[in-house]
Amino acid sequence: MNRAPRKYANYIPIRELEGVEQQLFPFQVYAGLRDNTPVRYDNHRECWDVFRYEDVQYVLKNPKLFSSERDRANASMLTTDPPKHKQLRDLVNQAFTPKAIEALAPRIQEIADELLSPHFSEGRMRLIDDLATPLPVIVIAELIGVPATDRQKFKDWSDALVKGARDDSDEAFQELMEEKKRNQQELASYFTAIMEERRQRPEGDLISILLAAEIEGEKLTAEEVVGFCILLLAAGNETTTNLITNAVRILSEQPELQQQLREHPELIPTAVEETLRYYPPIVAIGRIAKENVELNGQTIQAGEQVISWVGSANRDSAQFDQAEKFVPDRKPNRHMGFGFGIHFCLGAPLARLEARVVLQTMLRQMEDIQLVPETVLQPIQSAFVFGVKEYPIQFTSI
Ligand code: HEM
Repeated sequence: MNRAPRKYANYIPIRELEGVEQQLFPFQVYAGLRDNTPVRYDNHRECWDVFRYEDVQYVLKNPKLFSSERDRANASMLTTDPPKHKQLRDLVNQAFTPKAIEALAPRIQEIADELLSPHFSEGRMRLIDDLATPLPVIVIAELIGVPATDRQKFKDWSDALVKGARDDSDEAFQELMEEKKRNQQELASYFTAIMEERRQRPEGDLISILLAAEIEGEKLTAEEVVGFCILLLAAGNETTTNLITNAVRILSEQPELQQQLREHPELIPTAVEETLRYYPPIVAIGRIAKENVELNGQTIQAGEQVISWVGSANRDSAQFDQAEKFVPDRKPNRHMGFGFGIHFCLGAPLARLEARVVLQTMLRQMEDIQLVPETVLQPIQSAFVFGVKEYPIQFTSI
């Protein structure tokens, strides 16, 4: 029997993670699932779940067997398979090289300083609202070439793009999909207007570069340029917010790391990688089986949805020594926090850079960083995002 996938398995938390405590620390639950049911079909969400490193890697490195394609009308590179995927990615790569990203370092430092400095004398701040949310939004807005005055609009659009349903009813899902569609349309007309301006008067920003990009006579269409800008907001903002927050959460849960990284700031890049392994902002990645596939003794049928739990794979002791321990100088660290294979995160160099700059700046100027006592942490309500809604911190200024 072919079980047709419900499109929204990604939006419903797995049953085993229904309590707040488990959502804040899901890793024990993942360990149980990894040991007992490494590949299993969940009747409630109507999808397969894959928990072991080796199996997750197999799914992600075989786009011929496991497709990313979703809604063809709304295709972005994230939801496209080869050969179209490669064409889109190669064109966009011209604007998104690691070198181009590294050149943003001084500006990112400036933004981080601007956002952090008002709080040094206060000894406390709302990490997410004051820093971790605005920083990536400002960086992406500037990169794309949209005016700073539209930041608030940007944040609202970006939040709406990644929002989950209020419950797991069909009505809630329909409502969510309609809201997302409206939001996408607003964003599309906003970016189209900017694009038309750049067509007349090109500048050095991403939109102008994308309009000019060309490989063997192929160019991006207007819809593809706009679609890519929307993808950057959807894929790059909340994820980076959660990377910064999850990193600071680790520093406050394991305070001895603060001194270690302050004394050895050269370890900050590997500590950022370890954060992506230990508390990854994205814990699950969805695909659709294209053919019947055997995986770890189970038969997945063509058309069924497969969720790869990178949050679990990242803690698999078959791949990592001391998998449950945060090791700031872990090397090699083949975590899958940025995915794996052809869809490996295009924005990884940017996310790494932002996290590195923030941690360097905070550790230089703050000591004894901790969660404000009595704070009740609330997990973000999404099956594939791992993060908290607020993270107020207190600290001593250096
Ligand atoms: C793809 C995670 C930041 C742009 C991905 C994928 C993951 C991921 C797991 C693979 C999805 C899949 O295989 O279906 C993250 C995390 C980030 C982050 C954890 C922050 C810590 C960013 C940023 C940008 C970005 C800052 C851009 C400014 C993209 C794009 C793709 C992608 C365009 C699609 C690539 C493709 O389909 O070839 N990201 N991302 N991401 N990410 Fe990121």
